Amino acid sequence: MSEAATEVIPLAQPVLGPEEEAAVIEVLRSGQLSLGPRVPAFEDAFAAWLGAEHACAVSSGTAGLHLALRAVGVSEGDEVVTSPFSFVASANAVLFERARPVFADIDARTLNLDPAAAGAAVTARTSALLPVHIFGYPADLPTFEGMGLPIVEDACEALGAVHGDGVRVGARGHPAAFGFYANKQLTTGEGGMVTVADAAVKERIDSERNQGRAPDMGWLDHDRLGFNYRLTDIACALGHAQLARLDGMLADRARVAGCYREALAGVEGLGLPCDDAGGDRRGWFVFVVQLPHGVERDPAIRALRELGVQSKPYLPAIHLMSFYRERFGHHEGEFPVCEDVAARSIALPFFSEMTEGQVAEVAEGLIAVLEGP
Ligand SMILES: Cc1ncc(COP(=O)(O)O)c(C=O)c1O
Repeated sequence: MSEAATEVIPLAQPVLGPEEEAAVIEVLRSGQLSLGPRVPAFEDAFAAWLGAEHACAVSSGTAGLHLALRAVGVSEGDEVVTSPFSFVASANAVLFERARPVFADIDARTLNLDPAAAGAAVTARTSALLPVHIFGYPADLPTFEGMGLPIVEDACEALGAVHGDGVRVGARGHPAAFGFYANKQLTTGEGGMVTVADAAVKERIDSERNQGRAPDMGWLDHDRLGFNYRLTDIACALGHAQLARLDGMLADRARVAGCYREALAGVEGLGLPCDDAGGDRRGWFVFVVQLPHGVERDPAIRALRELGVQSKPYLPAIHLMSFYRERFGHHEGEFPVCEDVAARSIALPFFSEMTEGQVAEVAEGLIAVLEGP
C-alpha cells in the first residue's frame, strides 16, 4: 500500500475500433455532416435493436429528457415525481419547463424510485412520473404504470436492461431517454435517443429538436417553438457502427461485473450492486459500491488513487445540491435511504475491456484501503 502506482486504472474507457473509424470517415467524405441519411438509419437500427416502435436521435440524454417531458404535456406549474438519487439532469429537465421536480425516496435494494414513496408524493398537480433506471437496473415500471399518470423514463444509464416481463428498458411505450456520453454502454461522444411508441410523438420530438420545423416544411419555416437538439450524422454513424457489436460489449460489461462481484463478495459492510431479481436484468453501466458505514469516503478515494485506482463519489443526492437546497428549501433527513446511499457510494473503474487482472487489482486495493494501515 505504500508505493505510489504509476499506471492508473481509469474509471471508464470507450472502446472504438476500425468499424467506427470507417463509418465516421465515410460521413466526412460524403459532405453531409448533419440532417443527412445517417440520422434515420441510426434511429431505425436503434429502435429495432431495442424493440421500440420509433426512436428520435438528439444531442444529449438531457435534451432527450426535455423533449420527452414536453411530449407528455409537462408544463409550467406542474409537478413531476422523480428520484433524488440520479444524475442532476433528470430533475433539471423538469425545471426547463418551469415545472417542479418532487422527489420521493428510493428503494434500498434497487436504488430506484420507490413506488410507494412516489405514490405518496403524487398530488393534484402531478402531471407525470419520471423514474430513473439508475446504474442500469430496471425501475419498477409495471407498478408505476398502475398509477395512471404519464411516464417519462430516464434510461440514460440503462441501455441493455430488461424488465421481468422480457421487454427491454425503453421499449414499453413511454418516452424514454438514453444517453450516449463517452462513459456510456454505447457512445457518440455526446448524444442521446428518445424512444417512443407513437408516430405523432416522434414527429413532435423530431420537429422540436430541429427548431420547430415539421418534416414537410421548407427551410427556415417553423410552426412551433423548437430547440437545436440535433445529433450530427458523424455522431449517428459512430453510434450505428457500435450497435452492430452492442450485444458483445454488453456481455463484456456483465463479465467484468461478475469478476467484481466474485472479488468483493464477503467484504464486511461493503454494499454491492443488487443482483438481478424477478426476471429484471441490469444493463451494466457502472460498478458502484457503498462503503461500509463509518469509513470516510474522501480519504478512501485518495488512498485508492495512490494505489493507481481511479474512483469517485457517485452519485450525490440531488435535493442536497446547493441549487436545489436554495431554490426549494431541501435539507438533510428528507430522503434517508437516498442520503445514506449517496454518502457512501463510489464508482470503481468499469469498462468492457477491463481484464480480470485489473479487476483483481482494484478489488485488492479497495480491500486494503478498507482494512486500513
Ligand atoms: C441518469 C442520467 N440522466 C441523465 C443523464 C444526462 O445525459 P447527458 O449527459 O447525455 O445529457 C445522465 C448522463 O450521465 C444520467 O446518467
